[in-house]
Amino acid sequence: MYDKKQDFVIDKTLAEQFTRYMEKYSELYRSLAMKAREHIPKSVKKPVIVDLGTGPGLLSIELNKLLPDANILGADPSIYMLSIAKNKLIDAGCKHSNFVRARVENIPLKSHYADIIISRFSLSSWKKPKQGFSEIFRVLKPGGRLVLEALNKEFPKRKLLLIKLHMVVNRAEKNVIKYHIDYYKNAFSINQVEQFLTETGFSIIKKEGERTDWKFLIVAART
Ligand SMILES: C[S@@+](CC[C@H](N)C(=O)[O-])C[C@H]1O[C@@H](n2cnc3c(N)ncnc32)[C@H](O)[C@@H]1O
Repeated sequence: MYDKKQDFVIDKTLAEQFTRYMEKYSELYRSLAMKAREHIPKSVKKPVIVDLGTGPGLLSIELNKLLPDANILGADPSIYMLSIAKNKLIDAGCKHSNFVRARVENIPLKSHYADIIISRFSLSSWKKPKQGFSEIFRVLKPGGRLVLEALNKEFPKRKLLLIKLHMVVNRAEKNVIKYHIDYYKNAFSINQVEQFLTETGFSIIKKEGERTDWKFLIVAART
């Protein structure tokens, strides 16, 4: 019942414009990478991390900086995003720049591959969220963690105008603003995500964000 009809087509121009805009916000990626690091057991010296829906790879860059021994894999269905991400990681001198073209609904990785899967703002474009969460469960090692950051469906519609204004002031291009607003239209609430996760067999270990905040973070453990 939650399957999506809207297709988010990312052409080369949108991928480049999105990257230019988001590069201004590296602190958001750094902060998420630091939160994710808290969920890697100290005993795991070389964690296997998947940045799912990596886009231009900005989170992968921060993960590389914080966890130089980690094995980091960026996954994304968009060839344009993947191409930008590869170049960005090379430019940033990252040791680990592995990528795979993939959708969450069908991840071409073996079961029990990853210690941690992080996904930032990709949930809105998952065509089949239930299937996506099952795939994440399959790919995680037992005891592995999902760190999911997502736009919040409960964010008041009237406040979207403020977001648009913020983006205009910060020189986001029209394409990028539309992409972002469409993402809100396809967002989920934290309760919905919690339900997906528990139905899939995850246990929720952390939630961040008030009911009507613009985004939320949820961390879940695979049994
Ligand atoms: C809003 S961008 C976020 C990119 C990156 N995580 C960031 O925060 O900068 C969403 C990304 O999700 C990817 N995506 C779209 N559908 C997906 C799917 N079914 N599974 C995984 N990723 C998907 C898009 O190609 C895009 O790169």
